[in-house]
Amino acid sequence: MSAAPKTIPGAADRPFAFTAENQAEAERLIAKYPEGRTRSAVLPLLDLAQRQEGWVSRAVVEAVAKMAGVAPIMVWEVATFYTMYNLEPIGRFHIEVCTNLPCWLRGSEDVVRAARDVFGVDIGQTSADGLVTLSQAECLGACVNAPMAQIGDDYYEDLTYDRAKALFTAMKQGRTMHGGSQAGRRCSAPEGTLTTLTTDPTTPEGGRWIADSSPAAPGATADPR
Ligand code: FES
Repeated sequence: MSAAPKTIPGAADRPFAFTAENQAEAERLIAKYPEGRTRSAVLPLLDLAQRQEGWVSRAVVEAVAKMAGVAPIMVWEVATFYTMYNLEPIGRFHIEVCTNLPCWLRGSEDVVRAARDVFGVDIGQTSADGLVTLSQAECLGACVNAPMAQIGDDYYEDLTYDRAKALFTAMKQGRTMHGGSQAGRRCSAPEGTLTTLTTDPTTPEGGRWIADSSPAAPGATADPR
């Protein structure tokens, strides 16, 4: 699988203007940068516009270029470089499955397969009902909980085919989805018992130290998963 190169949209699109609320936010963002450096606001302005519009159209680029005081081509350079900007309309949910090496080794292809089975889409496609767009991403920085997918602003981690299928089915049925580890582990804590930091080197005895949350702790009865 490989991501299709990003290209500048050719079709004319509808005009774009920030809402009054977002216009105020855009001005606040620009004011954070010194005079003559407002080009630095291009990334957050594009993000703000995309949150309002759903994607980065030609009209968005032109509006952002005008606000940041740069040529539109400089905004295109940013928008086509970063994968977080969508250069075409997307579905209501944007599922970005990380297919980079650690996630691939841990089964990212099963996550893609689950999305295909639930929504009937492949990478780069939007479902017929407009509910989801499936994309692939290259390392979203959560390798320790691989494989994972980003949906909107949230991460869903420790996925397997079955967990991803359950997650996507919940999405399809409009049920609440819970981000984070789908295996139930807390953040990046080890699965099962602790394998490191099991002793406290600061004690004179160098005695064994077990975290309260560990299943090996006195009185613990259940596996935290
Ligand atoms: S490789 Fe998937 S999050 Fe890093």
